[in-house]
Amino acid sequence: MKQHPLKGENRLKLGVFSANADGGLAITDVPERWQAGWDDNLSAAQIADRAGLEFFLPIARWKGFGGRNRVREHSFETFTWAAALAAATERIGLFMTVHVPLVHPLYAAKALATVDHVSHGRAGLNIVCGWNPKEFGMFGTPLVEKGYDQAAEWIDIVERLYGADEPFDFEGEYYHLKDAVSRPASLQMPRPVTMNAAFGDPGRDFAAAHCDYLFTTFSEIAEAGRHVADIAERADRIGRTVGCYTVAHVVCRETDAEADAYYERYAVTMADHAAVDQHMAGKKEFSQSHDAHAYDRYRQRFAGGAGTYPLVGSPQKIADEMIAISAQGYDGIALSFVNYTQELPFFCDRVLPLLRQAGYRT
Ligand SMILES: Cc1cc2nc3c(=O)[nH]c(=O)nc-3n(C[C@H](O)[C@H](O)[C@H](O)COP(=O)(O)O)c2cc1C
Repeated sequence: MKQHPLKGENRLKLGVFSANADGGLAITDVPERWQAGWDDNLSAAQIADRAGLEFFLPIARWKGFGGRNRVREHSFETFTWAAALAAATERIGLFMTVHVPLVHPLYAAKALATVDHVSHGRAGLNIVCGWNPKEFGMFGTPLVEKGYDQAAEWIDIVERLYGADEPFDFEGEYYHLKDAVSRPASLQMPRPVTMNAAFGDPGRDFAAAHCDYLFTTFSEIAEAGRHVADIAERADRIGRTVGCYTVAHVVCRETDAEADAYYERYAVTMADHAAVDQHMAGKKEFSQSHDAHAYDRYRQRFAGGAGTYPLVGSPQKIADEMIAISAQGYDGIALSFVNYTQELPFFCDRVLPLLRQAGYRT
């Protein structure tokens, strides 16, 4: 088994987020918008793998946000997607994003272990409790009120399945298992590297107690470090160490002016406004994924990258901002692009050397 890329030596880890879903994170009508076909997913993963990025991380989406393009309606399921990519890549970490209330832990343990074996120890688990009642409605399941209580039982079961020599019974509030067994165990123990994607207090407490990393958002770099300090403190209180990853959408061009002009074009002039409205309204009502003021101030950020931080500019400007994010304490950043296969090569060729020169990557 190889060392998982998230455990590697680079001070700032980098990955690709949401290539499995149409639009990526963008909500735009430009003709080059990401279609998320399989061949393009494979190309994007192989570009990232060859460039030495640490991880490829999918979004978990079951239903889209309407608008002209019915954005995010098309998305690949993440266990099977990661399994296929595992067989076609060499080094990169391959995450699966799993809605705890919708996927039984016995099923998840087996699927996750399968990808860990196919990839020789490169699997990763990204836990989400979900926020969109329309998605849960499709399953006939209400949004779980205490999602993180359920998630705690869920991850406990997964770890026990991997660690137990004998079948065991489990009597919890959410799960009742009889003679549970799952073989093979994952190669990584006690389980594959795990993040929890959340912003609010219960999600942070869950990450502090059960995960390796919190995966979260911030509004401005200057104050982004408080989220890292907060998760570190929550973990420390219970004798654990938990790191922090974040997410950003990228427009990298030769000059700042070119990047700004393209950002304006795809995320303002040609934004898919009806879908932006639906996405923002849903997230605001049902989730705590962002600071409250993010919704009012950053409509362009929602069209540009689902409310994440924008890294827009020349290679030097983007490298400088990434270094500033690292200086706030983040272990790594998951990146989205309007068109991953068209934009990743320029980003990797031009930004990664600057991060190497600055000592953030080798
Ligand atoms: C960085 C990040 C990524 C997320 N990715 C997903 C996702 O792929 N699918 C999903 O349904 N929810 C996703 N969520 C939403 C969370 O699952 C959760 O529902 C939301 O953050 C509200 O929970 P909280 O109060 O713990 O933050 C994400 C949240 C964050 C902060």
